[in-house]
Amino acid sequence: MKKTIIVPAYAKINPVLWVKNKRPDGYHDLQMLMQSVSLADNIVLSASREEGIGVTCSDESIPSGPDNLVYKAALEVFELLKITPAVKIHIEKHIPAAAGLGGGSADAAAVIAGIPRLYEKTVSLADLMEVGAKVGSDVPFMIRGGLGLAFGRGEQVQFLEKLSKPLIVVLVMPIDCPVSTKWVYQNYQPSQNSSKASTFSLAVTAYIKRDLLALRQFAFNDLESVTLHRYPVIQRIKEMLEKNGKGVAMMSGSGSTVFGLFYTRKDALDAISYLEGMPVMVELTDTSVYQNKFV
Ligand code: C5P
Repeated sequence: MKKTIIVPAYAKINPVLWVKNKRPDGYHDLQMLMQSVSLADNIVLSASREEGIGVTCSDESIPSGPDNLVYKAALEVFELLKITPAVKIHIEKHIPAAAGLGGGSADAAAVIAGIPRLYEKTVSLADLMEVGAKVGSDVPFMIRGGLGLAFGRGEQVQFLEKLSKPLIVVLVMPIDCPVSTKWVYQNYQPSQNSSKASTFSLAVTAYIKRDLLALRQFAFNDLESVTLHRYPVIQRIKEMLEKNGKGVAMMSGSGSTVFGLFYTRKDALDAISYLEGMPVMVELTDTSVYQNKFV
């Protein structure tokens, strides 16, 4: 058994997000493109002499102990491994919470992939993803990360080849604007949805071909209808980030982060200059990362 390992937990963005329908179990059926980006939390996993799961976090506003999603993730993966839990988990937080970047899910996924490594056990990606689905809808994708299409409530994933050349991703996070995913879904009004299948596939094709012009035409995120209505600042950020005409700007997940996709750092930095004076945090990232490589 290893004593301590450090696992990165990468954030995600959704270049396309289609909410298809509300299900009898309260969740929504989705079709979405998921892309890992290089902004990451660090998860420090240490084997412990004491039984139990200890969770601490560098950010005091985030719950530690059993209230954190990683606690459930660890419990589930120890059950899969048939090992008595004895681990300390420290989360060094860099991904803002409630920002539509999947930070909590990424931490949980890193724990699910990391604990078997700590105990030097080999587990298949499929088994880890099954554990992830019990913890949260985005978790299965994040166990491997990279690029993928997600279906169902988000837990069914078809992984795709990495883009031939990474895109530059600007993450723009409005300050003091946390958005509850649950609230967004509760307020979502399904529209005329059936005609979106062809636009969805045009957007996915544009993304895979790195055709930002076509992506700008076809990409959509259905959840923008809820979050932008409540937080007009997000709409303003989108407009500013697209102002130089070099990229595509969209809201990620249920918000509040807006991401901009660009071919070059120069284009990205130029777009960022239009945000001057706005109450936002900005991170320059890219799409070159995988959470874990499984063959
Ligand atoms: O699965 P997860 O716990 O991350 O989802 C958080 C909340 O978002 C759920 O409780 C549900 O209200 C909503 N949700 C949904 N449909 C999905 C995913 C999430 O309604 N496909």
